[in-house]
This record gives sequence, C-alpha cells and structure tokens, in this order.
Amino acid sequence: MARKSRGLLKGNRSITGNGIRKPKSLKPQKARSLIRRYHTLLKDKEIILKQLKPLVEGLDNKNYVECLRETQPLLFWKYNSELKLFIESWTGKQANEPMNKDVLQDTNEMVAMLGKIDGEIKCRGGIEAYQVALTDGQDSTRGGDSSKRLIQWLESNTQWQKKDTIMSALEIGCLSANNCISTCGMFEVTRIDLNSQNERLILQQDFMDRPLPTSSKEKFDMISCSLVLNYVPDHNVRGQMLWRFTQFLNEPKNGFYSKVFIVLPLPCVTNSRYFNNARFIDIMTHLGFCEEEYYEAKKVAYWLFSWKGSKSMKKVAECAFKKTEINSGLSRNNFCITL
Ligand SMILES: C[S@@+](CC[C@H](N)C(=O)[O-])C[C@H]1O[C@@H](n2cnc3c(N)ncnc32)[C@H](O)[C@@H]1O
Repeated sequence: MARKSRGLLKGNRSITGNGIRKPKSLKPQKARSLIRRYHTLLKDKEIILKQLKPLVEGLDNKNYVECLRETQPLLFWKYNSELKLFIESWTGKQANEPMNKDVLQDTNEMVAMLGKIDGEIKCRGGIEAYQVALTDGQDSTRGGDSSKRLIQWLESNTQWQKKDTIMSALEIGCLSANNCISTCGMFEVTRIDLNSQNERLILQQDFMDRPLPTSSKEKFDMISCSLVLNYVPDHNVRGQMLWRFTQFLNEPKNGFYSKVFIVLPLPCVTNSRYFNNARFIDIMTHLGFCEEEYYEAKKVAYWLFSWKGSKSMKKVAECAFKKTEINSGLSRNNFCITL
C-alpha cells in the first residue's frame, strides 16, 4: 500500500479522528510553494466548474459534490474514484502537474480532473493548510500586515482627521482579527473570508454572495480588499467585485467620502498582457472612485481611493473594459479586470 504522506504541513493529528491535521506553521519557502500550488489548483477547479455549470443542472461552486451525487451517479462515481485513487497514490513528492486543457472537451474527463484536484488539495492539508500558509505570509517577517499602510495614510489625511466618530469598515479576505485595521481604534470592523479561521471573529462569507445592503446601516465608510482581487479567478468577477464596492459604500456626506483600500501583487499592473495601472484607474474612475494615494513596494502595489458617490458613476454600457492586449511579449502574465 502507498505510504501516507503528511503533506507540506507539519502539525498535530486531528483529535476528531477525521484524518485532517491541525496545521501549525510553515517555513517561508514552503509556505510560498504551497500558496502557489493552491492558487493553481483553485484556479483550475474554477475553470472546470465554470464549464460544468451549464452541463449539470443545479451545480454551483459550493454544492458540486452533493449535486453530482444526487443527480449524476455516473459522474459522481468518476469524481469519487479519481479522488480516492489520487489520495491512495499520494507520496508527497509528486511534481506540480499542470492541468491538461483537453479535459475541458469532455464532461467525464472534467469530473475526473475535479476529483484529482480535490484529492491533491486534501493531501496537501486541505484549505486549512492554505489559510495557515497565507497567514504565515502576513507575518511581519514576511511582508507584514498591509493595513499598516492604510492606517498611516489615514493618519495623515486631513479629511479623515476631522472625523471624531468611529467609522465602519468591511475587511474582505481577512486572515486575522489582529490586523492594524482592527486594532487602530478608528474602525468597527466587519471581517469576512471565504475560509474563516476564526468563525467567532471572521464571518465565513463570499463577498460576492453578501446580500446587497437595503439600508445605510448595512453600508460602510471603508472597504479593505488586500490581495483578494488577484485571488478571484475570473476577470469578469473581479470587475463585478469592484462594482459591488460601490453598493456597499456610504454615499458622500458633509464633504466626507467613503474609501476603498486595495492591494495587488505588483506584476498585476507592471507585467500583465491585459492590464496596467492606467487601465485600473480608468475602471475605478468609471465607478466613481478617485485615487488618493498610491505606493509601489517591491512586490505589491497599494491604492487608497475615495468614492465620489453613485452620481459620479458612469454607465457601464458606455465603457467597454474588455480583455484586450495592452502589452505584448512572451513573459507577460494574464491578469485582467473587465467591466
Ligand atoms: C491572499 S489572501 C490575502 C489575505 C489578507 N487580506 C492579506 O492582505 O494578506 C486572500 C484571502 O481572500 C479571501 N477571499 C478571496 N476571495 C474572496 C471573496 N470573494 N470573499 C471573501 N474572501 C475572499 C481568501 O479566502 C483568502 O483568505
């Protein structure tokens, strides 16, 4: 029988006996390699699910296992046997295989690939391991909490200094309730993440599924979205995410404008075939945002935008931000946001 691997994470065995280990921490290089692999796996999974959705009635990104089990027994069998096979043959030393895009021609092949991907995610420690790697990446010795820059900017912002009440903030993609945005005392923070690591303090929620506000009480003065947009696998959904910001922000009041803090990996704006800073600012301007601050660090770029309100938004139909080539060259990445 194949040797059972401990995956990349060294941690304690689960006391619940379900085989999932409680992740502890990772060395920086291993954390980076695990994050990269998870990004690839999650992106491939998203591509497959997008193709499967029109073919399997009722299937979505969250319910696909139950949906296949209940409505497509043969496809479920294929998915499940590939998943089990992958787990049984896992040695922990497999090369990071790229997905063969030919699988997307055939439903059977797609669910088989989905099974393999889910098997690999499980073998590498599950989403818990990924979240630990991401949190370790936030550690000050490895780049730190990006909201420190936001607070520095706000502290020197004259408009902000006039505010003597506590502001409301939404932190999307929150890994820790101890980030500067939560501890600085300026905000009452609502924290959400796709995979909460602390459900008492961080709500497990996809921002794209968060019900749109029906009153100003459900809106915010600040949205923080650090290293999340690049995590969203689809360029179209990234654009929708930016649009949704406008629905969650308070309208300007007494000369005060709500704000959005965005962080992206630098190559998204410096080395993409389809995107650059000018295009980003164009999109944001169409949505009624105005750039207040910008800072380029070695690996990431930070922006602070203020929102001029729904009256400043231009009709989306007027502005076709499509996926068109801006920079040519073989070494470019494909990051893009469309609206
Ligand atoms: C790379 S981490 C960045 C975390 C942290 N904000 C930082 O700056 O280090 C991205 C996080 O965003 C979360 N995320 C991605 N898409 C999301 C969505 N649609 N709604 C909520 N959280 C999301 C992921 O679960 C992940 O924890």
